[in-house]
Amino acid sequence: MALPNVTVFDDADAVAAAMAERIVALSHAGGRATIALSGGSTPQRLYRLLATPAMAARVDWPRLHLFWGDERFVAPDSADSGTLMVEEALVRHVPIPAENVHRVATGLGSPEAAAADYAARLRAHYGADALDPGRPLFDLVLLGMGDDGHTASLFPGKLAVEERAAWVTGVPEAGMAPWVPRVTLTFPALASSREVAFLVTGASKAAMLRRIAAGEDFPAGRVTSQGRVGWWLDRAAAGA
Ligand code: 6PG
Repeated sequence: MALPNVTVFDDADAVAAAMAERIVALSHAGGRATIALSGGSTPQRLYRLLATPAMAARVDWPRLHLFWGDERFVAPDSADSGTLMVEEALVRHVPIPAENVHRVATGLGSPEAAAADYAARLRAHYGADALDPGRPLFDLVLLGMGDDGHTASLFPGKLAVEERAAWVTGVPEAGMAPWVPRVTLTFPALASSREVAFLVTGASKAAMLRRIAAGEDFPAGRVTSQGRVGWWLDRAAAGA
């Protein structure tokens, strides 16, 4: 098995620039565009680029709805918060309507409660309680991949990777640092998408990419989409 739809860019900046163009185009595609964002360091470059005045002016912000693929169950002002990272890098600098930014409510009592709340808000946004294969929940899902093969907060060997019904689930125990509980979209929710794009950069990712490409079973390799799963790599991650 090889990875599907691999594109290799020169470096992490080129990956970010290409995805920024993709998001500009999506914002002008007509109707609303629902995007699931990823935390982590790789997409931060993309968010900062989208926040620059030249790029921000090209995006039709009111058409975009931003969700998170996963979040760490920490206070909103914690340095570990993926939401805070996206707010600081992007949301505070662009004219996106506040009601289009759909944060995970980490102030609720438990990751499970936050997951149930997020699922309810996703269902309200989608306008139905069940996913229709002909009508994807997300137009674009951005994902990263950890060195251990996790994606979103779907860690190898943890219960969340077995979830087949819920759209969102609590993850009591992370598989890597920061060792805090998480809330994550599940495989069925990720699959309800027109496009999943893995943004993976840096030499530290090359070994795991090779293992997934060789058919070894890790969460990142299990992600499917009703549309297309694409891998956006830099040369270092691709081992080129
Ligand atoms: C997070 C993400 C996580 C991330 C990968 C890759 O918030 O940390 O949910 O799945 O995308 O760990 O992270 P990097 O891009 O930092 O390597």
